[in-house]
Amino acid sequence: DRKPRVLSGIQPTSDSFHIGNYLGALRQWVALQDTADAFYCVVDLHAITVDHDPKVLHQRSRVSAAQLLALGVDPEKSALFVQSQVPEHPMLAWILGAETGFGEASRMTQFKDKSAKQERTTVGLFTYPILQAADILLYQTDQVPVGEDQRQHLELTRDLAIRFNGTYGQTFVVPEPHIVKETATIKDLAEPEKKMSKSSTSPRGCVYLLDEPGQVRKKIKSAVTDSDAEVRYDTEAKPGVSNLLNIYAALGNTTVEKLEAEYAGKGYGDFKGDLADVVADALAPIGARTKEFLADKAELDRILTAGAEKARHVAARTLAKAYKKVGF
Ligand code: ADP
Ligand code: NA
Repeated sequence: DRKPRVLSGIQPTSDSFHIGNYLGALRQWVALQDTADAFYCVVDLHAITVDHDPKVLHQRSRVSAAQLLALGVDPEKSALFVQSQVPEHPMLAWILGAETGFGEASRMTQFKDKSAKQERTTVGLFTYPILQAADILLYQTDQVPVGEDQRQHLELTRDLAIRFNGTYGQTFVVPEPHIVKETATIKDLAEPEKKMSKSSTSPRGCVYLLDEPGQVRKKIKSAVTDSDAEVRYDTEAKPGVSNLLNIYAALGNTTVEKLEAEYAGKGYGDFKGDLADVVADALAPIGARTKEFLADKAELDRILTAGAEKARHVAARTLAKAYKKVGF
């Protein structure tokens, strides 16, 4: 019997990932690679579904891979690759597109959110979840470590796998999302009713992994809280403070209960000051290691080429199976 298969991807659509990406997904990528057979990809095919600059995209794919290595993705344990280097992804996506109802694709809420922010909406953005399903199904994936915002796309992936297997016979493993409840949705620091995102409208809303310590402190200290000055977990009444507690517990390796006890009777000033130190300390080595990985371009390319080869080996087998099933 084999180890569980894990696959996840992240878009190279910014110069740095943020702590929502890290706590919601990337930390689990690193944790799972010891017990699972893991495939992790920088999904550059997804990144061109919105406006992009080719030079910037190329560089961001490298910076993204370097950050993943800096966070602890170990190329000896996991296949780390760039999606466009494995052509089986769009090839399987085409087949899955032919299985997807127009109505079911139209129900994807992320498309509605993202297309509303674009001047011009592409068909690629619309079919994005189908490519994502191909990313996952190609590797006979058991678990997909992602944040809560990906749950609907995972549900579509599962539906497509079940449908395809039902029509053509057993072809794909039906994957499960791997979502860690406490950090499933890290909220925007400036607008705690929204999820933290690189497209935050406030420059202080999102903490990037490559932020300097001074920037981290400013952002944490100006985080929106509430007026009752009590460090207490209550996501309904106190979304800002609850979000900070989740971040603190996760990065400080403690629990929300212990933090509530520790800060009982103290104000938000002490709490935010300490949290700023915890976040800045957690991020400092990531920035330094990212620079190291970027400095050796040949080694980074070697890692990504080896990762793509390992990925293709598995992906080509699944694609061949699917081709045969549909009559090619
Ligand atoms: P963004 O939402 O900033 O555009 P991506 O779509 O590239 O980032 O997401 C990459 C991964 O990070 C996905 O698994 C996603 O679920 C997770 N993620 C993104 N934002 C958050 C957040 N605020 N909290 C928890 N997980 C998140
Ligand atoms: Na997202």
